[in-house]
Amino acid sequence: MPLLTVEGLTKSFPRTGRGTVHAVNDVSLEIDRGETLALIGESGSGKSTIGRLILRLIEPDAGTIKIDGTDLLTLSNSELRAMRAKMQVVFQEPYESLNPKMRVGDIVAEPLEIHEPSLSRADLRDRVRATLEEVGLNADQAERLPRGLSGGQQQRVGIARALITRPALVVLDEPTSSLDLSVQAQILEILHDLQETHGLSYLYISHDLSTVSYLAHRVAVLYLGQIREQGPLEAVVQNPQDPYTQALLAAFLDSDVSVSPSRLRMLSGEIPDPTQLPEGCFLYGRCPLRMDKCRSDPSVLRVLGSKHYGRCIRAPLNDDDWNIVADSNRTVGDRPG
Ligand SMILES: Nc1ncnc2c1ncn2[C@@H]1O[C@H](COP(=O)(O)OP(=O)(O)O)[C@@H](O)[C@H]1O
Ligand SMILES: [Mg+2]
Repeated sequence: MPLLTVEGLTKSFPRTGRGTVHAVNDVSLEIDRGETLALIGESGSGKSTIGRLILRLIEPDAGTIKIDGTDLLTLSNSELRAMRAKMQVVFQEPYESLNPKMRVGDIVAEPLEIHEPSLSRADLRDRVRATLEEVGLNADQAERLPRGLSGGQQQRVGIARALITRPALVVLDEPTSSLDLSVQAQILEILHDLQETHGLSYLYISHDLSTVSYLAHRVAVLYLGQIREQGPLEAVVQNPQDPYTQALLAAFLDSDVSVSPSRLRMLSGEIPDPTQLPEGCFLYGRCPLRMDKCRSDPSVLRVLGSKHYGRCIRAPLNDDDWNIVADSNRTVGDRPG
């Protein structure tokens, strides 16, 4: 049984006076023990909302979320509190996610105090110290305030705080995207080592394909709150079977990896407003490979290979298709490089 099983997850938000944002649309995914699933897509594609739904920080409109077979949505408040120790999160902006008035040691201790209130002061201190050391900080830094630390050290505090309850699943929501490249590499290495040591499962949310290939075992590509393609890292990166994935990769291969793809124009035109989802294939209006029936027929995920799924009805795509997508991607203006 996978550690995490998500089925049919759907979430919309009212937008005052301007309809409903369909942020997450019928998303299903699984994560095994010790496995990293990367969730990639442009800004606004619904990545963080999926993370928050899985952690049950917000409630879905539809769908099920199971950890170890237990349906999170049926838990009582006290059962959910206990379950939260097993699921933690690391956010994009380390400084903003840390209480600036608390000392590092107290920030890291806090989740453990909540989940294991019977722990003695001495045991608590030992666990904090051990966890700080595990993320490459030293015990003296427990006395510091977050502002006295570098960005990379602050993110190590965020990781220590997530780890101290010994979770099974950690949602990493763009954990390195606010850090310098050299610091990013260190943080990714720590996350990688911690996964090996503790058999952690990660939902790794990112728009940076270079970091995805370092950490991910499998990849899910999100567009307008819908998974376009999902599969093992090698399959999705080396043999992408959706025009959107191809455009995303072409933009990356073509540019400095530090450039955010959200600043690049994928395909032609703009992402449609998520208050008005397209009727057929969500990519129809922007797709260089589209056919007439893509306008009306809703796209469904099909099996394309071993554990590889995609929505494009033209899949399997060949090299000519890839060239069409890459070229259409290149001809759109406003792109650096
Ligand atoms: N609390 C909210 N209220 C209204 N709209 C929201 C809320 N949270 C997210 N959204 C909208 O949902 C969509 C997906 O957002 P998000 O999950 O943050 O995307 P990502 O993390 O991929 O950038 C966006 O259109 C965003 O504006
Ligand atoms: Mg986000």
